Amino acid sequence: MMEPGKVLSTFKAKNGISVVLRTPDMHDLSDMLKFINDLVAEKAMIATSRKQTLESEADYLSGIISSNIKGNAVHIVAEVNGHMIGKGEVTRGSDESRHTGTLGISLAKNYRSIGIGTALVKELLKQAKRLGIKLVYLEVFANNVHAQNLYKKMGFKITGALPKKLRYGGKYVDAVLMAKKL
Ligand SMILES: CC(C)(COP(=O)(O)OP(=O)(O)OC[C@H]1O[C@@H](n2cnc3c(N)ncnc32)[C@H](O)[C@@H]1OP(=O)(O)O)[C@@H](O)C(=O)NCCC(=O)NCCS
Repeated sequence: MMEPGKVLSTFKAKNGISVVLRTPDMHDLSDMLKFINDLVAEKAMIATSRKQTLESEADYLSGIISSNIKGNAVHIVAEVNGHMIGKGEVTRGSDESRHTGTLGISLAKNYRSIGIGTALVKELLKQAKRLGIKLVYLEVFANNVHAQNLYKKMGFKITGALPKKLRYGGKYVDAVLMAKKL
């Protein structure tokens, strides 16, 4: 449904830089590999802490491009000066949860707190709705206040928690569940 490299919107972030939101294509491979490995090195509060190789990232990238084409997910990258600096997705459930999607988002360290996350979530929700998804939900580290602020601002409500579901810095942390009807 969404072909590779399709521009969805452009806007200026709070610091004046121009940002393009578009679907990924295979040209994003080297930026994406650096992006994920920088997040892993930073120990960002994301679902993985595993470094990726060029091969594993190429598999991942071709997989998300094909999910976008099939309408199984909405993967969007944020681009500044020709380079991918952020990524978000809503991944559709299967069978009896096909009307739902799980949301994830992350931005490179130097591009946070200037409104890009807000714009990216807005675009993800718009595209998810277009796919017929009716409920978007996510899981966030209980200590990730910044991300929870973003989701609350976008209308997500806390619907539960899974005690000690996640690990961070050698300790167990609760996963907070948040959801929004579209
Ligand atoms: C979490 C993340 C996606 C947020 O995106 P962002 O572009 O930095 O957020 P925005 O600038 O759009 O800000 C959204 C809201 O968060 C809050 N916020 C902004 N900066 C903040 C900060 N430093 N600390 C706490 N809250 C903050 C504000 O409420 C803001 O809304 P406002 O600007 O209208 O007041 C981004 O910081 C990130 O990629 N972090 C690392 C990876 C991660 O944690 N991903 C989430 C996994 S669930």
